[in-house]
Formats: sequence, structure tokens, C-alpha cells
Amino acid sequence: MGLLFLPARAVRGTIRVPGDKSVTHRAYLLAAVADGVSRIRGANPGADCAATLAAVEALGARVTRGTDGISITGRPDALESPPLPLDLANSGTGMRLLAGLVAGRNVAVTLVGDASLSARPMGRIVEPLLALGARITATGPRATPPLVIAPVDGLVGTTWRPQVASAQVKSAVLLAGLAARGVTRVIEPAPSRDHTERLLPAFGVACARPDALTAEVHGPVVPQGAEVDVPGDFSAACFWLVAGSIAGEGELVLEGVGMNPTRTGALTVLRRMGAAIEVQEPRTVGDEPVADLVVRPAALTASDIDAAEIPALIDELPALAIAQAVARGRSTVRGAGELRVKESDRITHVVNGLRALGGTAEETPDGWSITGGGLTGGAVDAVGDHRLAMAFGVASLVATEAIQVAGGAMIDTSYPGFYHAFKDRVQAR
Ligand code: S3P
Repeated sequence: MGLLFLPARAVRGTIRVPGDKSVTHRAYLLAAVADGVSRIRGANPGADCAATLAAVEALGARVTRGTDGISITGRPDALESPPLPLDLANSGTGMRLLAGLVAGRNVAVTLVGDASLSARPMGRIVEPLLALGARITATGPRATPPLVIAPVDGLVGTTWRPQVASAQVKSAVLLAGLAARGVTRVIEPAPSRDHTERLLPAFGVACARPDALTAEVHGPVVPQGAEVDVPGDFSAACFWLVAGSIAGEGELVLEGVGMNPTRTGALTVLRRMGAAIEVQEPRTVGDEPVADLVVRPAALTASDIDAAEIPALIDELPALAIAQAVARGRSTVRGAGELRVKESDRITHVVNGLRALGGTAEETPDGWSITGGGLTGGAVDAVGDHRLAMAFGVASLVATEAIQVAGGAMIDTSYPGFYHAFKDRVQAR
């Protein structure tokens, strides 16, 4: 079943986007091995984080889902080996971070996922975890899931230099480092999102950051139960930032959006393109900067995005592609080869989708070029990728025909309710 987006002219209203998906995964995982009770408020309600929560429950953490948040009683001494494989569904973050967390904790566990996750590369975490002394195998073709982890009681700290800037790799290694003797250090080729480094101290674990590329923990160390307030997800907010910018009329207020500078590269790019976005009431929630964002329509002009900018906007590229398809002139994206191993090959499928919607776009090995000027609409396939489905739906604000998005049900992965929230706030042409 597809999702239907009718051509729209205006978008207005106030929105509280769901809690940050990256922070939610990390909070669940740290809570699962913490001493005492953790309370997590504002957690992301999507299927990805639900899979991580179910996984930590299956490992023996006690989970209570209440009206004011989720309480988790950790198992700092011993996790349980679950009798069945743990299903991380569509979530690369869930699978990679969980593998790191359990690698040195004396459990036998198999991690599986859906068809998309089962095709994603796991060698990038298997290699460092083996270097730390774990027994882990990616049993699918070309080091893909299922991941089979055998019991090992404790690891030995090491220094790891990943080839790609990946917060998932960095975080898997740091979480494994909690159960490793000595210093576990990750030195990245470029800075990636730093939610793990920010959250560890909230759980009582020191995380040294001697420079912008290095993070380290000293183990073994037992996290302490924590209170976590999860900020709004900037990646979810970005769909609204693009919608509000390309609309003919209206104004959107986005409340409580996470503004971690390792995440907000898309805000910089949209402003460079001429977007009218105001940042109001900057504040801190827990360990993360947060603000309200106000976006109004603006005439956008083309802008190139280069390799150095990619880590801080990697998940926002599908939404930015819509802005580029509307902007005056030709825009390129370079150095984004990682997009090919996300929930789908987001280079191929963004470009195919824009063409299906009447746009002009070309693939390159590590990005695309898009000639702006608008989109008409039509039938488009989101190939079961939540971010593609939302991006294509947002294009309805410039379309002259209806947009029918196939594979849109997967929006629930990160943003349940997006479709109705969007329909409620747009005004048809
Ligand atoms: C994430 C890191 C990024 C991002 C993903 C979430 C995280 O992946 O694309 O959606 O929470 O650590 P990579 O680490 O593979 O770049």
C-alpha cells in the first residue's frame, strides 16, 4: 500500500518532532548494563528503537513502559543469553551498537534484521571487536548479518582507526570498551555525531576527548543508572525545514529540536541556499543543545555539498535533495558514498525518485547532481526506506500532481505519525 500526498501550497503549524533516534538507542543500551534504574523521557517511538528496547529486555534488563517515560533496571553483573536470535528489524544503529555492548559480556547471542539490514556491511564493527578480543562473526555474504557472538568474559582495550567517519562504529567500540581492560580509543578520519561521548558521563562514565577526532574510555567500568531527557530529532525536523522552505505560503514552528553541531549540517546548507530559518530559545536538555526552529518559505538557490560536510548531514541528504530539486540552478553532492549502504542505496533511489517525480538528477559514484526548477509529481518508490518516503512526500509542496509513495509504511521506523502530521498541516492547491 502506498501513501498519497496531494499537491499542496502552504504548510503551517507547530510541531514537536519525535525524540532523537540516535540518543534513544544509546540511552537504552547504557541503561541495560547500568547499576540501578534509568529513566528515559521523550524516547523515539519508532520501530528501530523499539527493537533495541526489546533486545535489551531479552538480555535480562527490566523494562517498564510508563506514561512519563521508560524505566530500565540494568544488569551490570550479567546479561542473559537469549534463547532466540535478537531481531533488530531495520536498524543498523541498533545492531552495531548492541554488538559492541554485548561483545565482552559473556553472552551467546545472534543478531538478525530485516532484508535491508541483512544486506548492510558489518565488517566495520566485526574487525575492531575482534581486535578487542571478542568472538564475533558476520555470517552473511560479504560480512553481512546475522551476527553471531560467542561468550567472552572481558575484552582488552585497544586503539582503533576506522576508515570511515561512522558514529555507529565509534560507539560500538566505545560501548565494548566498557567491558575492556585499559583504554579503548577510537580515532576517526573526520568527526561524527558525538551522542555516545555526551551520554557516557551522564551514566557516570568518563569519556576523554583529547581532540576532535579522538574518544576514549577506561575500563572495565560500570555505568550508573541515569535520568535521560531525549531532545527532538533534528533528522525528523529536517523534513519540516525543507517543507516549510519550499512551500508557497505558511510558517512552521518546530519545538525542542536537538541542535548538536555534529548533526545540524543541513541547517547550514539550507541557509546557504537562502532558507529563512530562525533559531529561537537555544537551551540545553540533558547533555544536548536544543532550540525551537521557525521556518518560512524562501526562494532557494543551488548549492554544492562537499565531502567535509557529509558526516553532519548524512541522514538529511534525501530531504536536501528535494530542496536541491526545487532550487534555482545545479547542485552537487560529493563524498557521500556511505549513502549507498544505508537503509537503501540512497544515491540510486534518491536519483530514481526525483526522476519519477519529474526532476532532473544524475548519479555519481559518491553523490549526485541535481538541476533544480521544480517537480511535477507521480508515482515513486521509497523502496522501504523511511527517509526516502518522507522526502518524496515533502515534494508535494511544489508538485502539480499527486505523489503516490510506495513503500511508505516504513516511515514508522523513525517517525510514526509523520504522514498524518503532514496532512494536517498542509493546505491543498
Ligand atoms: C547513527 C550514525 C550514522 C547515521 C545513522 C545513525 C548513529 O550512521 O547515518 O542514521 O546513531 O550513530 P553511520 O555511523 O553508519 O554513519
